[in-house]
Amino acid sequence: MERLTIETTPIDGQKPGTSGLRKKTKVFMQPHYLENFVQSIFDGIGGVEGKTLVLGGDGRYFGDRAAQVILRMAAANGAARVIVGQGAILSTPAASNLIRKRQTDGGIILSASHNPGGPDEDFGVKFNTPNGGPAPEDVTNRIFEATKAIAQYHVLEAQDIDLATLGPVSLGGMEVEVVDPVADYAELMESLFDFDAIRALFKGGFRICFDAMHAVTGPYATEILRNRLGAPEGCVINATPLPDFGGGHPDPNPVWANELMEAMHGPDAPDFGAASDGDGDRNMIMGPSMYVAPSDSLAVLAANAERAPAYANGIAGVARSMPTSRAADVVAEKKGLACYETPTGWKFFGNLLDDGRVRLCGEESAGTGADHVREKDGLWAVLLWLNILAATGRGVVETMQDHWRTYGRNFYSRHDFEGIETEKAEALMDDLRGRLSDLPGTNAAGRTVEAADEFSYTDPVDGSVATQQGLRVYLDGGARVVLRLSGTGTTGATLRVYLEDRSEDPATFDTEVQEALSGIIAAAHEIARIQHHTGRTEPDVRA
Ligand code: G6P
Ligand code: ZN
Repeated sequence: MERLTIETTPIDGQKPGTSGLRKKTKVFMQPHYLENFVQSIFDGIGGVEGKTLVLGGDGRYFGDRAAQVILRMAAANGAARVIVGQGAILSTPAASNLIRKRQTDGGIILSASHNPGGPDEDFGVKFNTPNGGPAPEDVTNRIFEATKAIAQYHVLEAQDIDLATLGPVSLGGMEVEVVDPVADYAELMESLFDFDAIRALFKGGFRICFDAMHAVTGPYATEILRNRLGAPEGCVINATPLPDFGGGHPDPNPVWANELMEAMHGPDAPDFGAASDGDGDRNMIMGPSMYVAPSDSLAVLAANAERAPAYANGIAGVARSMPTSRAADVVAEKKGLACYETPTGWKFFGNLLDDGRVRLCGEESAGTGADHVREKDGLWAVLLWLNILAATGRGVVETMQDHWRTYGRNFYSRHDFEGIETEKAEALMDDLRGRLSDLPGTNAAGRTVEAADEFSYTDPVDGSVATQQGLRVYLDGGARVVLRLSGTGTTGATLRVYLEDRSEDPATFDTEVQEALSGIIAAAHEIARIQHHTGRTEPDVRA
């Protein structure tokens, strides 16, 4: 097998975003595009000579072919071994687990998460460091620098290897170890939770519907919920991963998980509903006719985590991304837990988890996780919920109502304005940024602005600083409006407006969320001049 060195030139725009490099699949399929980026990952981390990597993805279109290219490149770059999921499949949390468990030098995950897949949709490549977490900014910066300096890449001239058969196989001197993508992950889950209690719950007739959205969690959920926990047949829907996710967005929210939404709002709704995204790191939790907002889910998990064996001795602290509602902060305060506010992006939790400052983290974008891996983890969140329900004997609706009675309710919603011209979106942000210091004391839609700033974060562990992480406007009564531009889109700009209002009056707890937030929504439009800058009066998505 010949080791080829291919001359190449830098390709513009290979800058990793919130979660690796995400582009249209066709962009990735252009000559040298994938190869340039993969070589830049290798160069950016000081080469892979003698190293061991993990490789896998969410099964989306082009993932299998990309995996073969990456294997040939790893071999040509002198890697010792690549542990790859059978069929090039690994959920993001399962990849994180393998990176850690096998003490590897990191891993490459092929996914664009919840973005749709297919020849005309999205693809992505992400590097995770040896702690199992997404590469922090200094690493992604080095990778980006490498993409700008690249002059050649190395690749082995070889046929595809068989990724369908388990076991080790040699590729030009490098060992490729094809592993069952589910086994290690399922074992990890079993070590964290009281599977006996959850098994007894199902035995007692508790009904669950898990929507895998034709994405990677199908086989994981089937093995864990069905085979290990005995949930009834048919409890996992859309369980077969498809390269185009059946044409949908594998994004677990009330808009895209419509099949689950219907089931949970029907007359014969199961007791518990859940869904996960393309690569298995996001989660959505529902009770009969009730959607649990991710921010509320984090707060409930923080309040009840000790019910699960892994957290019986406490969780030390909790961290949330800045735009996530402050419901978890209320729990942290009452329970004497440390509480951290980080920029959007799971990578910012890594140091806090590594340092033992927090054991539980969450984001409004449907991500919840803990210190068992360094990614958010969809099925883990489902299992922790189930463990809590099994231990308390209460249902989802009752649990939420109890929670609000104890801690108050932070009404919360995110409004997305998608496909805005980048210049217009930036003009809106610049305009508001310029007015922030004038806002305190002013009125908007009948509410008073108490404070306003632009979020920047200093990591308490390594002192690194992230600036310009979102504009925050605090209003009276514990309300807040946050604005930022999405870092994960592939076309134009998405303006995210995060809306929060707080109530301690139980008479209000059942108010419909958009209605409860109507005053804050009006205030947000007025403060940010959304229509003036974008021409929009209504969002595309209310999450
Ligand atoms: C990904 C990241 C999350 C982040 C989310 C939203 O899922 O892993 O950490 O919260 O994207 O990012 P965005 O920049 O689109 O709001
Ligand atoms: Zn994801």
